[in-house]
Amino acid sequence: MALIPQIIAGNWKMNLTLTQGRRFIDSLASGLVGKKLERKLLLAPNFTLLSGLIQGCADIGVGLMAQNCAYQEAGAFTGETSVAMLKDAGAAYVLVGHSERRQLFGENDDLLQQKAQAVAAGGLVPIFCVGETLEQRQGGEAFAIVSNQLRSGLNRFPCEKLIVAYEPVWAIGTGQTATSEDARLMHAHIRKFLEIQFSWGEMVPILYGGSAKPGNAAELLAQPEVNGLLVGGASLDPESFLQIALA
Ligand code: PGA
Repeated sequence: MALIPQIIAGNWKMNLTLTQGRRFIDSLASGLVGKKLERKLLLAPNFTLLSGLIQGCADIGVGLMAQNCAYQEAGAFTGETSVAMLKDAGAAYVLVGHSERRQLFGENDDLLQQKAQAVAAGGLVPIFCVGETLEQRQGGEAFAIVSNQLRSGLNRFPCEKLIVAYEPVWAIGTGQTATSEDARLMHAHIRKFLEIQFSWGEMVPILYGGSAKPGNAAELLAQPEVNGLLVGGASLDPESFLQIALA
């Protein structure tokens, strides 16, 4: 089995201004002094903060993610942001198919497949998010739903520069985390899917997301095939983000 370094990725969603973001990075930098960090840190600020945070993040080895992108290369798409623009602003990764994009903005599998392909074509790494709703879990459909999301979203995905995030919708922002057993079973399922689908499937990091916080990070990170965490709410405070990173 490939050894995949763990990743702690913070998703700030529509929070923090540039001034607040800079303050966060300064305080993360102070918190990291003298610490031996074995995990890779990533942050997804709003688009408008990317170029202003790139230097501070680079100085402390934190990678930048964008929260979304357009699949079109350029043109008359008011309000959209291309992969080339995100790369230019400093992003190396792009979240694709976060459940808030799927649920609140109607992003469907076809669109997400195009976005994942566009991110790869632009030389960035998609973090492709999947996850079932509470209703689907209670109906016994969780594994089938996640397989379908992976099958359609990653159809003909071209290379191993990919991260998958399992984020059960019922656990996002609710304080209700999946049990480590739920996470273990779903991550094993996703790993199997990736290995069957792609010759390089064993190399793809699979992150867990959904109310990850300092109190549950260590247990989640100890599960086989949990190669890191995608953290929303608890990534807005540098202290709790650092505690998760060091858990
Ligand atoms: P949460 O969000 O940690 O606040 O549940 C996770 C996410 O949406 O990525």
